[in-house]
Amino acid sequence: MASAIRIDGKAKAAELSEKIEEETAALARDHGIKPGLAVVIIGEDPASQVYVRNKKRTAEACGFHSVQHSLPAEVSQQDVLDLVQSLNDDPAIHGILVQLPLPDHLDEQRITQSITPSKDVDGFHYINIGKLTAGDTADAFIPCTPAGCMLMIEDHLGTDLSGLSAVVIGRSNIVGKPMASLLLARNATVTITHSRTKDLPAVVRGADIVVAAVGRPNMVGGDWIKPGAVIIDVGINRVEVEVDGEKKAKLIGDVNFEEASEVARAITPVPGGVGPMTITMLMANTLRSAKLAAGLAD
Ligand code: GUN
Repeated sequence: MASAIRIDGKAKAAELSEKIEEETAALARDHGIKPGLAVVIIGEDPASQVYVRNKKRTAEACGFHSVQHSLPAEVSQQDVLDLVQSLNDDPAIHGILVQLPLPDHLDEQRITQSITPSKDVDGFHYINIGKLTAGDTADAFIPCTPAGCMLMIEDHLGTDLSGLSAVVIGRSNIVGKPMASLLLARNATVTITHSRTKDLPAVVRGADIVVAAVGRPNMVGGDWIKPGAVIIDVGINRVEVEVDGEKKAKLIGDVNFEEASEVARAITPVPGGVGPMTITMLMANTLRSAKLAAGLAD
């Protein structure tokens, strides 16, 4: 019988979104300012199309000024850089996001680094990465997925993780590395693991906090989990399952939810865990950027 608490990311995201909507309305009423989010999508990647549509819909629901630039897959690097520059210069835009992955001919680092750090609501600019790595988490724009994961961890373990062991599975720039920096800033003892890690199950078995971000369906089994651990599953894997003889697409995480639920203290489901929190943190970063631009944020 499952015993873990199911961490409801959807409900938490809705709660946070309500606060963002209220603050956005107050910003418009008292200062005539509307947070502006520009999302740039290049090419036809179906998963990216879904993510971008959700970002736009959520921005509009929050009362933001929301713009989307859809560019063809064969767009030149210079045209993308020119677009980013025009958004950097546009005072109605407070957040710029270029959806990744990019087509192969485009230089991801150059494009990401061309976004001015004060509008880098993804937290990918080296200035923001540097602030986060230096422990200046209050000043940096924190990448949205790890920021959302951290809020869910804090709900269960508080803001001081002293004495707790955290294992991050995956070393990506979007999730693994910034997640480790955030956990470290909260005093956790952090291990980053990856495909070259020796005896991964044994390492994970030592963790009070597990953040799985590898993109391998059900990789983390129940027998990898320390009893009482808090599990955050960042994986969103589309798999085919057979229901009543029919093949259907289903989203599953990197963690075997049923097995881990038997052992863990709390666990995020997929879908309905990390995903909704990620989008909400993008809105929170954009609102903060708008306030900072107006000299109103702390
Ligand atoms: N692709 C997958 N996740 C992300 C993200 O958080 N930001 C951007 N820009 N692209 C992504």
